[in-house]
Amino acid sequence: MALHKVADTGRYDDVYTMPLSEQVLPKYRIPDDQSDPRAVYALLRAELALDGNSSQNLATFCTTWSDDETRRLMDDCLDKNMIDKDEYPQTAQIESRCVHILADLWNSPAGRETVGCSTTGSSEAAMLGGLALKWRWRQRRQAEGKSADRPNLVCGPVQVCWEKFARYFDVELRQVPLEPGATGLRPHQLASYVDENTIGVIAILGVTFTCDYEPVAELAAELDRIQAATGTDVPIHVDAASGGFIAPFVQPELVWDFRVARVASINTSGHKYGLAPLGVGWVVWASAELLPEELIFRVDYLGGDMPTFALNFSRPGGEVIAQYYNLLRLGREGYRRVQQACLDTAQVLAGEIAEMGVFTLLYDGRGALPAVSYRLTDPDARFSLYDLSDQLRMRGWQVPAYPLPPDQQDVVIQRVLVRHGIGREAMSLLAADIRTSLKRLTVGAPADAARTGFHH
Ligand SMILES: Cc1ncc(COP(=O)(O)O)c(C=O)c1O
Repeated sequence: MALHKVADTGRYDDVYTMPLSEQVLPKYRIPDDQSDPRAVYALLRAELALDGNSSQNLATFCTTWSDDETRRLMDDCLDKNMIDKDEYPQTAQIESRCVHILADLWNSPAGRETVGCSTTGSSEAAMLGGLALKWRWRQRRQAEGKSADRPNLVCGPVQVCWEKFARYFDVELRQVPLEPGATGLRPHQLASYVDENTIGVIAILGVTFTCDYEPVAELAAELDRIQAATGTDVPIHVDAASGGFIAPFVQPELVWDFRVARVASINTSGHKYGLAPLGVGWVVWASAELLPEELIFRVDYLGGDMPTFALNFSRPGGEVIAQYYNLLRLGREGYRRVQQACLDTAQVLAGEIAEMGVFTLLYDGRGALPAVSYRLTDPDARFSLYDLSDQLRMRGWQVPAYPLPPDQQDVVIQRVLVRHGIGREAMSLLAADIRTSLKRLTVGAPADAARTGFHH
């Protein structure tokens, strides 16, 4: 093959006649020479087309639709490092505004004075929330002259971030098994798991597997009862990765947040129902004294004395700005309308799925996240939900099938998440494709002779 130098061509070459286009792309070694950016872009774009279409990814809670202004702001902020708070004081200001807005949205009694920060997502936010719980428990134990070497964390069917927290930070994870028919942790289960070494209980507002909310106020009332009986005072951290941006707008009567005195901290994913693009989460404490001072690092070599609590250092600023943009653009009423539209769509889809006659709904999109989860309960079905997932994939839909967590791991479910950007028409097309798939799985694919072939 001829060797071409980019600078030698002097012509406007078509990207598919440029040298890079005539090669298999390097996979293990950086190329020796430069390439025309148009060719590189075109080739990468073509490769990325092999990824799933994110608007048909019904497995993710994360934002897959953004408006042009968000895209422009992301572009404007490409060079802003979230950690350089002295260099980019307005970006830091905007982060702080978001924290206080969230504290207010979640009814913090000290909304203006409380502390919190942005993170890369709920996973990092969960680690920070968990670390604060561990530190406070240890301080208390040490002050009482008691051993502080066997901390445990009590939770129901949590997302893997809590398993990571427990392993990375040496905390025993006491995962309470799921009861038959339950969609999450139930208050009466707590007493057998909580003890003096419990750093906290995780309550989930939007269980990853079932999409239902765990009853935060009832869990707190049970912990009140346990405290009255045993003296053990256990705080709650609410993992509101998804529900933190749903409940305040569409279920305002639900008491799950800082109105519950036992709720010490809350995390959420800005990049899920917060509607910001991928890469932002939040953690907020009910009041500043709940975040132990030793966890805060003061960084001075960037030009100022900056307090930080984070697992990483450099991080893009655009997502935080885009979060603030969405808060300003939509306001309470805008978020309410977006989330209500998603809930309504989820409920219509739940109705369609129930009508198909072979499924039993586990969650019907009412009262918690805009989602539907269901089991296959037709005793005559000679296929599984995994087969249905495969069939739907042929039309581009990504609808996961997976077993429930212990003790319900024999129950396989399927889950559809409805998000901003997924409309009624899309879900009506999905329902039609589920019906077609069921038919194929029941009566089999058409015989070759009956196929129409390819017409051009
Ligand atoms: C309840 C819950 N917590 C935490 C996470 C992790 O969130 P992130 O992807 O923002 O790190 C998820 C993700 O789905 C979740 O559903």
